[in-house]
Amino acid sequence: LASIRVDISAVNPGTQITVLWQGKPVFIRSRTEDEIAEARAVDVDSLPDSEANNENLGDVPATDENRALDESGQWLVQMGVCTHLGCVPLGEAGDFGGWFCPCHGSHYDTAGRIRRGPAPRNLPVPIASFVDDTTIQLG
Ligand code: FES
Repeated sequence: LASIRVDISAVNPGTQITVLWQGKPVFIRSRTEDEIAEARAVDVDSLPDSEANNENLGDVPATDENRALDESGQWLVQMGVCTHLGCVPLGEAGDFGGWFCPCHGSHYDTAGRIRRGPAPRNLPVPIASFVDDTTIQLG
């Protein structure tokens, strides 16, 4: 499994970058305090998909803590592939302030969890880790 390293030093809170990895887009977002707080206030039992869908953690609940890459919750890394039929969702869009898939109307929240629409799963969190403060490795 080929891994890549991504420089995140220029990604400020409230912005994201998209990188291609294994032929697929990966969203790397630096979340604001508000985005984190909003995601952490959600009752996991109310979510359409109550599993984190995080390859780093296995079968765990879809809490925001289980989706974010770091403890503060600033960094969210996820595949930019809608779990319905694979379109690329738009950032900072939709009814929950996260991502919106325009293909058939799936709304994801600020933790990339599906909240409304036909998509069955939260956006997948790929294998990812920090190499240092400004570098994330995918794979
Ligand atoms: Fe995203 Fe259908 S592919 S809603």
